[in-house]
Amino acid sequence: MQIIRTISEIRAVLDEQRAAGNSVGFVPTMGYLHDGHVSLIRASVEANARTVVSVFVNPLQFAEGEDLEDYPRDLDADVAYCRGAGADFVFAPSVEEMYPSPVDTVVSCPGVAAPLEGEHRPSHFAGVATVVAKLFSIVGPCRAYFGAKDWQQVAVVTRMAADLSMPVEVVPCPIVRESDGLAMSSRNVYLTAEERAQAPLLRRALDAGLSAVADGERDPAAVEAAMSEVLAGASLGTVDYAAAVPAHSLVADGSLAGEVRLLVAVKFSKARLIDNDGCVAD
Ligand code: PAJ
Repeated sequence: MQIIRTISEIRAVLDEQRAAGNSVGFVPTMGYLHDGHVSLIRASVEANARTVVSVFVNPLQFAEGEDLEDYPRDLDADVAYCRGAGADFVFAPSVEEMYPSPVDTVVSCPGVAAPLEGEHRPSHFAGVATVVAKLFSIVGPCRAYFGAKDWQQVAVVTRMAADLSMPVEVVPCPIVRESDGLAMSSRNVYLTAEERAQAPLLRRALDAGLSAVADGERDPAAVEAAMSEVLAGASLGTVDYAAAVPAHSLVADGSLAGEVRLLVAVKFSKARLIDNDGCVAD
């Protein structure tokens, strides 16, 4: 496995791979890898001749006052995870390599990025879409793997790739969880012991929402109330949202029908946790 720091070098090695007829799969990350990231790497390794993992904490997607400086970093451990999962290349550029001058060109998807996370982190998805577009242009993958953990991010990236005719298939992958149901996240290390004990309530809130839909509830407000009731037990956190929405538009539109996504976000003292699950309302 090779660790590569510059855009010119990753382009050169991947050009060689493509010339040799090898397909390239890509897993973009911000590092501090865990088994959720590993599942994406394994999915790529299974379907592509070569797999590239990027490790880059992208300043563009952090707003003023968010955790850019404190974001956990451990490149040695990340490299070990990538090697263990069968990746071929780790692309770990510096901020100066990725953004040698202030960025003027921004990719944004103001429709799908607007609700939910967009209301709480208004500049976040433009930062994500811009860096993912840039990484796609550097790596040139035929497939790119994203976790359903960040459901709205998958929607934004899928829409961007379609709208801009990017020659890449965006592959969503299932959420990997701890044994008590908490979705794995690099930011879980920020939780205090007491907050960690309350964090599985996000999963339980989703379960309550899923049960409500399974029992025939079609009013989004009632499903949201069922989730909020469970989240009220997370007394150390503040609920940003508990939403029951159409899985692809992410905007409530009358009664629930077809593919439904339940999404929750809770802000603890330092970690802001998000989670989601889906079902079909027939
Ligand atoms: P990061 O938070 O490091 O996540 C990288 C990828 O891992 C994302 O696609 C995310 O959804 C996925 N992932 C995280 N936790 C997961 C879990 N528990 N189960 C399954 N997949 C999981 O998301 C980002 O970085 C950035 O926004 C990025 C796309 C790299 C752009 O900077």
